Amino acid sequence: VRTGRCVVAVDGPSGSGKSTVSRRLAVGIDARYLDTGAMYRAVTWAVLRSGVDPADAEAVAKVAGEIDLRIGTDPQGYGVTVDGVTVDADIRGPEVTGSVSAVAAVPAVRTLLVSRQRDMIDNAGRMVVEGRDIGSVVAPDAELKVYLTASEAARAQRRSAQDAADVTVTAADLARRDRLDSTRKTDPLQQSADAVVLDTTELGIDEVVARLRELLVERGVA
Ligand code: DC
Repeated sequence: VRTGRCVVAVDGPSGSGKSTVSRRLAVGIDARYLDTGAMYRAVTWAVLRSGVDPADAEAVAKVAGEIDLRIGTDPQGYGVTVDGVTVDADIRGPEVTGSVSAVAAVPAVRTLLVSRQRDMIDNAGRMVVEGRDIGSVVAPDAELKVYLTASEAARAQRRSAQDAADVTVTAADLARRDRLDSTRKTDPLQQSADAVVLDTTELGIDEVVARLRELLVERGVA
C-alpha cells in the first residue's frame, strides 16, 4: 500500500479525454478520484429543480449553500447525490449541460466547491482530481499538473459518441461552453505554466496514462 501524498491535477476542456485518463490513472496508482465537474453539475441540477434562474447569481449561490451535496471518490464508480437523491444520470442530461457554465461562473459557488474539494483532497492524500482550475486554484501544490487538449473536431466526435448526440449540435455546444468557461472572471479554464501539456487528438488513452505514470515515477511520487 502506498502512503505518500500524491495529488494529480488534470485540467482541460470537455472532450479532451480528462475523465477516462483520470479514472484509469487513479486505478493504476491506487489513488482516489474526484470529478469536480460533477459537483458543478450537481449544483446546477439543484438550481433547476428549485426553479431558480441559472443567471440569477444571488439565488444560485443560495441554493448551493443550502443543499447536501455528496460525491464518492472511487475511480471505478462514484455516486453523486443531492439531498439524498441520486443524480448521476440527470447531471449528464442536456438541461444541466446547457446551464452548468452559468452556475460555475458564480464566485460564491466556486468558493464553496473549491473549499469542499480541498478538504476531500487533504483527506484522501492520494487523489487524481479533474476539472478546469485544479492546477491553478484548487491544488496549486499538486505533485503533477496535466493539461489535456485535443482538436475541436476530435472533442466533438468523442462527446457526441458519448451522449449519442448529433456531432454538429455537440460541436456548437462545446464551443459555446469552452468560450464561457475560458472567459469567465473567476477561475477560468487555464493552462498552468508548470503543467505538462498532452494533446490527445492523436495519442491513445493508454499512451497518455502510461506517460503520466512515467512522469510520476520520475518525480518519485508513484
Ligand atoms: O467536466 P464537465 O464537462 O463535467 O464540467 C462541467 C462544467 O463545470 C464545465 O462546463 C465547466 C465547469 N467546471 C468548472 O468551472 N470548474 C471545474 N473545476 C470543473 C468544471
